[in-house]
Amino acid sequence: MANAASITGIGSAFPKTIVSNDDIAAKLKKLGLETNDKWIRDRTGICERRYSDLENADERNSSLGLAAAVKALEMAGKSPQDIDQIIYATCTPDTPILSTACWLQHKLGAPKAWTMDLNAACSGFLYGLTVAEQFLITGKSKLVLVIGAEVLHPFVNWYDRGSCILFGDGAGAAVVEQTDEGSRHRILSSQLQSDGNLWELLYVPAGGSNIEITPEVYAQHLHKIKMSGREIFKIAVRTLSDFAVRALEAGNSTINDLDWFIPHQANRRIIEAVANRLDIPMDKVLINIDRYGNTSSATIPTMIDEAVQDGRIKKGDLLLLDAFGAGLTYGSVLLRW
Ligand code: UT7
Repeated sequence: MANAASITGIGSAFPKTIVSNDDIAAKLKKLGLETNDKWIRDRTGICERRYSDLENADERNSSLGLAAAVKALEMAGKSPQDIDQIIYATCTPDTPILSTACWLQHKLGAPKAWTMDLNAACSGFLYGLTVAEQFLITGKSKLVLVIGAEVLHPFVNWYDRGSCILFGDGAGAAVVEQTDEGSRHRILSSQLQSDGNLWELLYVPAGGSNIEITPEVYAQHLHKIKMSGREIFKIAVRTLSDFAVRALEAGNSTINDLDWFIPHQANRRIIEAVANRLDIPMDKVLINIDRYGNTSSATIPTMIDEAVQDGRIKKGDLLLLDAFGAGLTYGSVLLRW
């Protein structure tokens, strides 16, 4: 029987510091900009988010990834020695050179693993799951650790009130193991795509090799997130809907079969519009954007972990994961828990 891939462990971690909408409003006020709790709640669904303390080594991207990974391994009953491969989905690495995956390996152990970062922004966890699945299908790996983790707040442009309100920090991790196609609990389908022509809608201009961070670049905030929110909103609703349908069809399933729809948490209004378009009742949609904001590649694994821990997701449930992000990147993964 052919090989397949199954998530056998899940974990998450967030920094301690809670930043409320009022905290953001107070910060913007000092810069001469206006926002308020009501606007942010009404337009995004976000009430608060977490920010890492950059002075605290335990709250770095790879440290949050570590805490999430330890929990995921514990749930799977595995140890770092069992890991063949680490895929670390992030667009906010600890360091530009070397990979955050290697930082994690340094902290976790995992002596026999080979490791890599994967940057597909907010779609990163679904891209990571899909890459892992391929290595498990070919038999090249037996156990892959997939992380989705970000420390986004240092990249927030405080002079852009449309985007600075959205982002938060956090990490999710999944242990993905080889199983066989006969297993009920496995990834059933995966549909990914990207459109690099839409690069300009969401990016950080400087800090890579294109533009060095000079005092002039710094003064223009080119090392910070630049986003066209309204355009992304429309594309997100369309692509999340399209890719959800594609993944369902590829997995021979329908909306009615779903137990949980787990979309990327970028804006509550985007999630509601997609659920409405696909006719998914809101009580089947998992949402945590109110407490964590948009944590990019971490939104989906942290949401799964929360719902597994509190008993909403049960063994055998059919889950549809759905994401979009900078690139633009898109993707949807259907799996049976
Ligand atoms: O992971 C992918 C990441 N990105 C996204 O998913 C972004 C998707 N887009 C969005 O979530 C929304 O477009 C935003 C939340 C970014 C903005 O919401 P919107 O409803 O699209 O607002 P808008 O940009 O159309 O702006 C409406 C008004 C504007 O004022 P005027 O021109 O109508 O007077 C903005 O200046 O709201 C104003 N505004 C704000 N007011 C108070 C924009 N940001 C704020 C703010 N507080 N923080």
